[in-house]
Amino acid sequence: MTDSFDYLADAELDTLAIRAGQQRGVEGEHCEPIYTTSSYVFSSAAEAAARFSGEQSGNVYSRYTNPTVRNFEQRIAALEGAEAAVGTASGMAAILSTCMALLKAGDHVVCSRSVFGTTTMLFTKYLQKFGVEVSLVALSDFSEWQAAVGSKTRMLFAETPSNPLSDVADISRLADLAHNNNSLLLIDNCFCTPALQQPLALGADIVIHSATKYLDGQGRCLGGAVVGRKEQMDDVLGFVRTCGPSMSPFNAWVFLKGLETLRLRMEAHSANALQLAQWLTEQASVEHVFYGGLEDHPFHQLAKKQQSAFGGVLSFRVKGGRAEAWKVIDATRILSHTANLGDVKTTIVHPATTTHGRLADEEKAAAGISDNLIRVAVGLESLVDIQKDLDRGLSQL
Ligand SMILES: Cc1ncc(COP(=O)(O)O)c(C=O)c1O
Repeated sequence: MTDSFDYLADAELDTLAIRAGQQRGVEGEHCEPIYTTSSYVFSSAAEAAARFSGEQSGNVYSRYTNPTVRNFEQRIAALEGAEAAVGTASGMAAILSTCMALLKAGDHVVCSRSVFGTTTMLFTKYLQKFGVEVSLVALSDFSEWQAAVGSKTRMLFAETPSNPLSDVADISRLADLAHNNNSLLLIDNCFCTPALQQPLALGADIVIHSATKYLDGQGRCLGGAVVGRKEQMDDVLGFVRTCGPSMSPFNAWVFLKGLETLRLRMEAHSANALQLAQWLTEQASVEHVFYGGLEDHPFHQLAKKQQSAFGGVLSFRVKGGRAEAWKVIDATRILSHTANLGDVKTTIVHPATTTHGRLADEEKAAAGISDNLIRVAVGLESLVDIQKDLDRGLSQL
């Protein structure tokens, strides 16, 4: 990584989102080029040998490095205030690559129970097969984290705020706990993005992204990122290079374009979500609204301390049960009925039978995933139209 961006050393987030890692092609293209190539030509046998041995930096093969992917990596690292980043094929590939690079058999991980369900599966179904032990704890109950940490613990993993109830973990406290126990704190920052929350500045060691969500912002492609210290990112890159979950250059380019508008979008998502949450609290057929931006949310103060806004995801319970929740979802015409989020298009889903459908009934109850719960990832359409669309079903209950 030879590019020098010293002139951006003290640049603001908005500048970094547009300029960090920028490259010009041989034609002087103003828009970053997409390097669609699987391999690179060497100018001599000596150069090939030096690149293969690592004596000389430079591209060899796009499973290892690619200029467009590097452009994305430098930009997301700059936004998170990190030394380095590694782009991956998906958010799950980012989590897997980090674990494979930094854990070994016999290690122990403490993971929040309210992380993305597939992340839990990765830990409990796959990593355990290779001798990595996992304890699941309640995200916001610090005493559970404390009790679970032991001499073999090497990693604490949390997603904050949580999906779909907006619970929040105190990142600094978890970082202290991790560091006092010779462990790393990993934060999945998918819901806030660096535009609203910077976990590394709060003490976390590594940030994980599903770039598929807000970094893209328009639901176009899959990708992920691991962000942190260079030494650890070199290990993660080593895994990606060897095992292959690399980011595609085209996807990297889409994410670069997404990052350019990240802060504006995140603020607009947050403003729409806050207003929708407030409106929902006033609807007669709504029992409860979960959104960190509402003053009565149990984690409002902590969210306010570590986030600059509350993001686009909210959930609410309707009066009734599954039938009533489904009625509201099925009555929508504008909102997209899909499990994805982080899109300019508002999405709606019934967590108990989709995203959290694999949980046993008692696990759902413990996680607050009731049958009457609906999740909305608020997009950037006019708020008036989003409200009207939800009201089609709500007004019938
Ligand atoms: C918080 C969070 N982390 C990670 C992932 C996994 O990302 P991907 O779907 O890009 O593999 C998701 C996907 O929904 C997610 O919501």
